[in-house]
Amino acid sequence: MTQPQSGAVAGVVAIYPGSFDPITSGHLDVIERGSRMFKRVIVAILQNEAKQPLFSVAERMEMLRESVTAFPGVEVDTFQGLLADYALAKDASVILRGIRAISDYEYELQMALMNRRLQPGLETIFLPASETFSFISSKLVKEVISLGGNITGLVPPLVEDRLRRRIAKYKPSI
Ligand code: PNS
Repeated sequence: MTQPQSGAVAGVVAIYPGSFDPITSGHLDVIERGSRMFKRVIVAILQNEAKQPLFSVAERMEMLRESVTAFPGVEVDTFQGLLADYALAKDASVILRGIRAISDYEYELQMALMNRRLQPGLETIFLPASETFSFISSKLVKEVISLGGNITGLVPPLVEDRLRRRIAKYKPSI
């Protein structure tokens, strides 16, 4: 259900940062809800090859772009370095993050406070994950598919296709 934006946050630019390796249905849910709250939502992929991602930044960008076409005001970008600096460069005053469980909160709170210290006025808004998606993570999705499990519905169909083609290369560390 898409509703017109209203209220104080409607004119705000928000950054939704992450690794997105790959995007999941949980990420997509946050993006869709964010797009109803903010004028622009910039989904920003962190360029950090040290994390040894399954998909390159270009591949993740492509999957994200294809997944968000229906959402107004949503764009996809990449960034390096400090998120706070990137937010300033983009004229964004909000960082959007999804929270799946209380266990996420401790780390997210630390990041939110650090980002606000680095860039006063930069507020982090947490969206609680929808119940249907609260157990999904990119890491678990990769592990399940690599061990032959069913991931239908946990990621957009185009991402499932990509994962099937790529997964032979993925060795989960379990
Ligand atoms: O999806 P992830 O991997 O949990 O996202 C983590 C991310 C990208 C939001 C975080 O690692 C980040 O912002 N990195 C950029 C570097 C930075 O600004 N570090 C200080 C953050 S307090």
